[in-house]
Amino acid sequence: MNETEKLHISIKNKILPTKYLYDDKGSKLFEDICNTEEYYLTRTEKSIVQKYAKDIMAASSAEEFFELGSGSSKKTKILILEALKYRKKLTYTSFDISKKALEMSKKELKTISKNLSIQLVKGDFINDLKNIDVGKDRRLYLFLGSTLGNFNNQMAISFLYNLSKIMKKKDFLLIGIDKIKDHDVIKSAYNDKAGYTEKFNKNILDVINNKYNLDFEKNNFTHSITFNKSNNQIEMYLTSKTKQVINFPNKEKILIEQGDKLLTEISRKFNDKTIKKIFSNSSLKIRKTYFDDNKYFSLYLLNSKL
Ligand code: SAH
Ligand code: TRP
Repeated sequence: MNETEKLHISIKNKILPTKYLYDDKGSKLFEDICNTEEYYLTRTEKSIVQKYAKDIMAASSAEEFFELGSGSSKKTKILILEALKYRKKLTYTSFDISKKALEMSKKELKTISKNLSIQLVKGDFINDLKNIDVGKDRRLYLFLGSTLGNFNNQMAISFLYNLSKIMKKKDFLLIGIDKIKDHDVIKSAYNDKAGYTEKFNKNILDVINNKYNLDFEKNNFTHSITFNKSNNQIEMYLTSKTKQVINFPNKEKILIEQGDKLLTEISRKFNDKTIKKIFSNSSLKIRKTYFDDNKYFSLYLLNSKL
């Protein structure tokens, strides 16, 4: 199946593929979201990294870093600086689908030290993981920012299991997980007053229009966020204000009714039990757990059991 056919099926099922949120503009908007008062995730995860950087580096003894979906690498920078206190040479690879994210990462890290070598790899962590160079050195994989929460259960397990398969015995994975907490705190993180989340959401239509030559009319959609209590997940939607027809270049059409809701992203929140089950189903073993005083967010350091 080619990409257009996949997209067609997805839209028919009222889902827009998440990866299209992250073009240049989307990556910039994501950074803006991270800096809002409401978005507690980034600053909380950063505080945990800061507090436990020494411990994380001692426990993993990493000789190189490989970050999946790095964004701007701002939090990882703290760990890199810690590692460089003891290491003469360190390689950091940023693997991201967004060119802009790779550029931001490079800008953040390039002046740190001549002992740091930076590699940028543009790729899709769902499809391209099997092709990466697994290296010989003791590698620390990083998967921060609660990105695992953007996968449903089956995708999360298959992603982590694939990672577990390519991890060498001595490699570690550091993963950032957002926990269940007061629902109002969660909801406001995804509904910032400045409106960056709304722009981030609507930008997906521009990306899809440009890439597939479609004619979604951005102004005919409204942005909304709901917290699904039975699944403990944020759901982000674009709701059509009108009846509209989306024309595909191959002349196929998709009818969208007034009030139809297109899902653009989920963000799951976990408790200890649910996340531990995912790790064990993915053949990963927890070596260390780190969290903040409020227990808003956790970092897990894991090994492969394979
Ligand atoms: N780790 C950063 C960014 C998290 S946002 C932080 O903690 O702030 C998610 C990141 O994953 C973005 O940089 C986005 O471009 C990237 N991403 C999203 N889907 C991807 C995919 N399918 N393959 C690779 N990278 C992806
Ligand atoms: N990984 C981020 C998160 O789950 C992605 C994100 C930012 C997001 N803002 C969002 C997901 C709004 C859904 C809705 O927090």
